[in-house]
Amino acid sequence: MDFSVYLSTLLSLLSQCTAQWCYQSQYSCDDTCRDPIHWAAQFPSCGGLRQSPINIVTSKVHVNSALPPFNFIGHTNTINVTVENKGHSAHFALPQSVRLTGGALPGHYRAAQFHFHWGGNGRPGSEHTIDGERYPMELHIVHIKEPYGSLAEAEHDMAGIALLAFLFEETPDDHPHLDTVIAALGRVQNNGSSTVIPNVQLSDIIPPAKDLHSYYRYVGSMTTPGCEQAVAWTVFHRTLSISSRQLEAIVEQCRFWTGQPMTDIFRPTQPLDGRVVYRSEASAALTSAVLLWLSAFSVVLGTTCLIH
Ligand SMILES: *[C@@H]1O[C@H](CO)[C@@H](O)[C@H](O)[C@H]1NC(C)=O
Ligand SMILES: *[C@@H]1O[C@H](CO)[C@@H](O)[C@H](O)[C@H]1NC(C)=O
Ligand SMILES: [Zn+2]
Repeated sequence: MDFSVYLSTLLSLLSQCTAQWCYQSQYSCDDTCRDPIHWAAQFPSCGGLRQSPINIVTSKVHVNSALPPFNFIGHTNTINVTVENKGHSAHFALPQSVRLTGGALPGHYRAAQFHFHWGGNGRPGSEHTIDGERYPMELHIVHIKEPYGSLAEAEHDMAGIALLAFLFEETPDDHPHLDTVIAALGRVQNNGSSTVIPNVQLSDIIPPAKDLHSYYRYVGSMTTPGCEQAVAWTVFHRTLSISSRQLEAIVEQCRFWTGQPMTDIFRPTQPLDGRVVYRSEASAALTSAVLLWLSAFSVVLGTTCLIH
């Protein structure tokens, strides 16, 4: 073999081994990055049996009375949030004073960061889907269990990470506090750039815990490589609002590390692989009322049939 052919083969093999991961939207045939179906070749956990996100089939969720509400600690504190473009998404770093307990989580958790997943040009971009429906955008708030200090330390604990997910629904009115987030994203257009949002409260963006009794819970993974299977997932039933103007503004500002527009930043849904999705009881009252009504109805029907 000609030496230069040998060398270029070797180099391309090497670049395949260390290829950057990317979303489907970044991938084209002449790209060397790894799109989601090839993540597992480099990050074995991505091919595991407890992967996220998933499609939640509401008729198959198990209602569980042992899923109490959360306690949010520090959510109303005034904090400075550092925003950084990480090349695949923008992270909003949270101070350790923001904490989480309750929600049947096995311990105390401190917040690390939050980030969003979005689509592009009118395409929805949530990671979780509900009965097959993808929502316009999804917020993830990442919490690490104490006493772990990092994802690397937490990754061997099935509930080492607690991820809170909120789905956004498009509304005619603006979300009153998202414009600060949008402006910050406009200041971190390129990989590695960062900015600070001074004097904000997490409670500006998410509702108080007392309004969040109803949620889905399952065990899963991080949705970006290495796809660590260490996440207790909570997907709230309550959605957050965003106007179409805000959605457009969010989607068109940042760029991937490759310089392309940062759009459609979500991983495709993963197989359940036998897992069960639980739902807290807050909405169970309604469900059982409906069931009771249905069974009463079928008794009536049954009786009618017998009479005839
Ligand atoms: C936020 O930043 C401002 C200006 O740098 C500083 O004065 C303030 O103390 C900071 N607030 C917190 C909670 O760290
Ligand atoms: C993105 O920026 C970070 C520094 O913030 C750097 O470590 C990383 O290599 C960059 N990614 C690419 C693909 O350029
Ligand atoms: Zn996420």
